[in-house]
Amino acid sequence: CGQMGAGIAEVCVKAGFRVMAREVERDFLDRGLARVRSSLERSRDRDKLTSQECDAALERLSGTLDVADLADCDLVIEAVVEDLTVKQRALAEVDTVLPAAAILATNTSSLTVTELAMSTSRSDRFVGLHFFNPVPVMCLVEVIRTLMVQDDIVDLVVDFCGRLDKEPILCRDNSGFIVNRLLVPYLLDAIRAYEEGIGTLEEIDIGMRLGCGHPMGPFTLLDFIGLDTCYFIANIMFDEYREKRFAPPPLLKQMVQAGRLGRKSGEGFFSYS
Ligand code: 3HC
Repeated sequence: CGQMGAGIAEVCVKAGFRVMAREVERDFLDRGLARVRSSLERSRDRDKLTSQECDAALERLSGTLDVADLADCDLVIEAVVEDLTVKQRALAEVDTVLPAAAILATNTSSLTVTELAMSTSRSDRFVGLHFFNPVPVMCLVEVIRTLMVQDDIVDLVVDFCGRLDKEPILCRDNSGFIVNRLLVPYLLDAIRAYEEGIGTLEEIDIGMRLGCGHPMGPFTLLDFIGLDTCYFIANIMFDEYREKRFAPPPLLKQMVQAGRLGRKSGEGFFSYS
């Protein structure tokens, strides 16, 4: 129930689905559920939801620390940290409690869905469902199909995305799918441009905002996504493709080592204190 999981839970309860958010620690769960609650209440206060819709959405949301409480779910969307071992462990654990008919999905942004699917007993009912941050605002979901998944499962999941009011695009399984395959080298290149002294952080950001109409310049976006997340993704994509454009620049690595993770830590390329 972190940044992505909370956003996914929010759009699901808003669309009328019952959601059970599972976390590993009470504190994470409380913070995640509070994040969903405050986002829904903000939508109500901005007249995007009525009070009744907001209350009904909150009633559909519950949380647990116990994986056994997911046993009634028709669909489980895994959104844990972007680390193969952690994801495989989380997926294997939930796979054992789910009924045979349930569908498992991963919100991975750069690992291959095939590898994750094969760590479960249901690779024919396993898809990638890649949401974008902030989930309540970004309209896209990438639906990733593997060689193993059944067509009717892909159809069901595409229909599910439509019911969340999202635009699904189908994508063959490959590291980074469509969007991160293009976005990640661009973000890493912005860091390299800065390292080479081509412009200041502000100038590069302004260039891409005003010159290309991007809502955020690359450094604001890197801070927004989280520098640790970008670093994990770059490493995974570099491992997969062995191409320089996916290699994390030294500055990104050093910032992560220094704990400057972007907005979430109060400091990244810019300061948020
Ligand atoms: N939750 C819910 N709503 C939110 C929100 C959030 N976290 N953040 C912003 N909003 C809503 C606001 O309420 C506002 O709604 P309104 O217009 O109806 O009042 C609307 O979004 C615009 O927000 P703001 O006016 O506060 O700010 P901006 O106009 O600057 O928009 C933004 C904020 C939508 C985040 C915009 O800057 C943006 O689109 N940035 C780019 C984000 C992006 O590229 N995301 C993809 C990241 S890559 C990814 O996720 C993949 C992963 O694998 C790495």
